[in-house]
Amino acid sequence: MPVPGPGYSITIRVEAPPSASAAGDLTSAVGRVGGVITAFDVVESHPDGVVFDITCNAMSENHAKDITAALSVLPDVVVRKVSDRTFLVHLGGKIEVSSKVALRNRDDLSRAYTPGVARVCQAIAANPEDARRLTIKRNTVAVVTDGSAVLGLGNIGPAAALPVMEGKAALFKKFAGVDAWPVCLDTQDTEEIIRAVELIAPVYGGINLEDIAAPRCFEIEARLREKLDIPVFHDDQHGTAIVVVGALRNALRVVGKDIGKCKIVVCGVGAAGSAIIRLLLHQKPADVLAVDIHGIVHSGRDNLDSNLEQIASCTNVEGRSGSLHEALVGADVFIGVSAPNLFGAEQVATMNSDAVVFALANPDPEIDPVEAQQHAAIVATGRSDYPNQINNVLAFPGVFRGLLDAHANTITDTMLVAAANAIADVVEPERLNASFIVPSVFDSAVAPAVAEAVRKAAIGEN
Ligand SMILES: NC(=O)c1ccc[n+]([C@@H]2O[C@H](COP(=O)([O-])OP(=O)(O)OC[C@H]3O[C@@H](n4cnc5c(N)ncnc54)[C@H](O)[C@@H]3O)[C@@H](O)[C@H]2O)c1
Repeated sequence: MPVPGPGYSITIRVEAPPSASAAGDLTSAVGRVGGVITAFDVVESHPDGVVFDITCNAMSENHAKDITAALSVLPDVVVRKVSDRTFLVHLGGKIEVSSKVALRNRDDLSRAYTPGVARVCQAIAANPEDARRLTIKRNTVAVVTDGSAVLGLGNIGPAAALPVMEGKAALFKKFAGVDAWPVCLDTQDTEEIIRAVELIAPVYGGINLEDIAAPRCFEIEARLREKLDIPVFHDDQHGTAIVVVGALRNALRVVGKDIGKCKIVVCGVGAAGSAIIRLLLHQKPADVLAVDIHGIVHSGRDNLDSNLEQIASCTNVEGRSGSLHEALVGADVFIGVSAPNLFGAEQVATMNSDAVVFALANPDPEIDPVEAQQHAAIVATGRSDYPNQINNVLAFPGVFRGLLDAHANTITDTMLVAAANAIADVVEPERLNASFIVPSVFDSAVAPAVAEAVRKAAIGEN
């Protein structure tokens, strides 16, 4: 059941009669249709009327219309204008370039631009590594997408993906001081994407691939990692895997289980699931069963692509086949990055005691979290309206901060594991409990802890 939230926040400007009950009538009308008022301002007050701005959260665009209609039918009330606050935030885009140097006079110009800049260009030509010292490369990341798998919206193309990439860039800056720039490519051809990223790479200290559909994303990332001398990171894969592995570390601390004795079911073997499995295997669990839309992944299954073949070769030690429901019997941990509503409380009851359930399909998880709680000791989702939100924002800003600070040329699983452990360890033992296994994304300790862990791991590997 959706609840009113800030994603559908509107401000309605209304004219009302100058009666003592006007404010009460307006707020009651909004409340009657389920709107949640977050601000109520008097904009104008005249002897013959008052103008109010009523800001409220709705559940959907249609619900926002219902709220507006509920106001407009009140006697002598006129709705002047309705503003969608989410669209207002996006007017003209969310990020900008600003100059770090003063350009006040000819002296300034001569140093920041010609003729002075020419000597800096020559220095970099003579020693290309100086680009990291003398240009934006030192602190800049490209957020690259082809718009093929954007949020839960699917293949909406590069222009429609831009608001998400701008948001990502804003998060990079806010949480880790990284200057990220959206690069939305007007192609979904693997070779063209690889070539385009290769061509723009000189400007950047790292490449963050974003919302590129599986299985194309695997080849693009692997080939770019081979070609480029800067780290290439696909956030939908590794950002998710880092946070999941960090959260699982804390979940198992809470239930007192050793991962070496845990059977883990990972449902969804796309971008997120494949990376989660690969990172989990570094923790040496007793076994991992990978499950996709066709059931448990095993080497004898028909039509495995190269990704699934590789996953089959390092999971499912007993060579099991069957459905998700069968996989769950006797499992200690469920991690879902697949599709909504795949099982219920009765399947969680078949898992081992103190089961851990991470149901991360967005926006609707694999199991209703309230239902999961009937039998699971710990439940996490991808949603901000439940406890234990698995959110990539915990990982990617700090990961790139650490990579840039280390002048890293590459990114390795050791660095990803270091980031996962750092996220987990931000939660102090006295605060750790079944409803608090990951820190808040607004915990200012997270990004520096992740950055430092990644920086150290990167320097250790150089
Ligand atoms: N932080 C988070 O909470 C987080 C992070 C990443 C992804 N996700 C969510 O995980 C889901 C998958 O994301 P992705 O990028 O890996 O997608 P993807 O398309 O790359 O992979 C989807 C996988 O789910 C499997 N699947 C689909 N329907 C299934 C079913 N009925 N039963 C079993 N398996 C099924 C597919 O076979 C595929 O392996 C999405 O809902 C996404 O929003 C959440």
